Amino acid sequence: MTFLRVTLFSLVVLLAYTLFANILPQVQSNPPAEEEIEPASLDRAGQIAWGERLFEGKGACTLCHKNLGRAPDLLGMDLGEELRSRIADPAYRGAAEGLEEAEAFEVYLRESMLDPSAYVVPGFGKKGTRDRESPMPRADAPPVSLTPAEIDALIAFLQDRAGVEVTVPLPAAETEVAAAEPVTGTAEEGPATTAEEVIDRYACAACHDLLGSGAEVGPPLAGIGTRLDREALRRAILDPDAEIPPGYEPGLMPTDFGEQMRASELELLLDYLAGLEAGEAKP
Ligand code: HEC
Ligand code: HEC
Repeated sequence: MTFLRVTLFSLVVLLAYTLFANILPQVQSNPPAEEEIEPASLDRAGQIAWGERLFEGKGACTLCHKNLGRAPDLLGMDLGEELRSRIADPAYRGAAEGLEEAEAFEVYLRESMLDPSAYVVPGFGKKGTRDRESPMPRADAPPVSLTPAEIDALIAFLQDRAGVEVTVPLPAAETEVAAAEPVTGTAEEGPATTAEEVIDRYACAACHDLLGSGAEVGPPLAGIGTRLDREALRRAILDPDAEIPPGYEPGLMPTDFGEQMRASELELLLDYLAGLEAGEAKP
């Protein structure tokens, strides 16, 4: 009886602490809601599910491919219809031409990820390039650095969304699948301990020219510390829509870093950004 009371009491205390920890802003980590996918069990359905997780997670595709008008809304549009019209566009010069539909989609989707500027969807090119250059980062290069098996899984997911047969190979049994956690808020790993890790984890370099990524979706941050003081920098990260630098639009930079990031990670980031000298995007 006493044992039971003690156990119950400990449980209540534990729960109280957990609750308390949960309402503390920024110090708390997000509970990992995902179940693990077993590599050995990756049949077609498993591969497609893996691709879906990569799309929102490690691939960081939803950073841009959402309903904002800055990139095609891949999950919102009739994907099959749109891909068909891209490949039929006389301006399209890629390898998908003349292939049977499912294979053509595979080739087109792979080109989109590995060589984004090969064909730029009209109206979506980098500013000033007249749609010759895509703002999309290569999926197999930093900051995203997907493996070939991960790229296949993404293609499988998108082929399935487009309503065609999935033609990519299934992953080999020994394929490492565990790396599909979301880029943001990877709770299990514990807080990042260097600014580079923070930038990596929250995919800042997918949009900003950080760590040599050359990305131009967001403003260059070289010398940002001379224009914004620490408080303004903090605001720019936690509430990005509050002030928009000239030439940029609101709504693109994620607004939930305040919930995703640990306080210690934000401080590392602020130190790093404040110290970035003009003309320098790398450490
Ligand atoms: C930084 C923003 C950004 C990120 C991140 C991004 N994309 Fe893109 N993507 C674009 C833009 C802009 C276009 C349209 C221009 C073009 O054709 O390259 C595009 C085009 C595409 C297309 C061709 C779409 C069409 O309508 O023909 C595919 C497929 C695609 N992206 C897949 C992905 C996948 C998969 C990921 C994640 C691994 C990803 N993208 C990440 C910005 C992004
Ligand atoms: C999906 C693209 C995207 C991602 C990811 C992103 N940003 Fe941004 N960022 C933008 C855009 C676009 C702007 C300009 C519009 C605005 O302020 O919202 C911006 C603005 C900023 C500014 C203000 C710049 C100025 O000149 O005033 C800072 C600082 C910044 N981002 C830092 C970061 C950091 C740090 C991260 C990662 C934790 C990050 N951003 C992730 C797109 C992005």
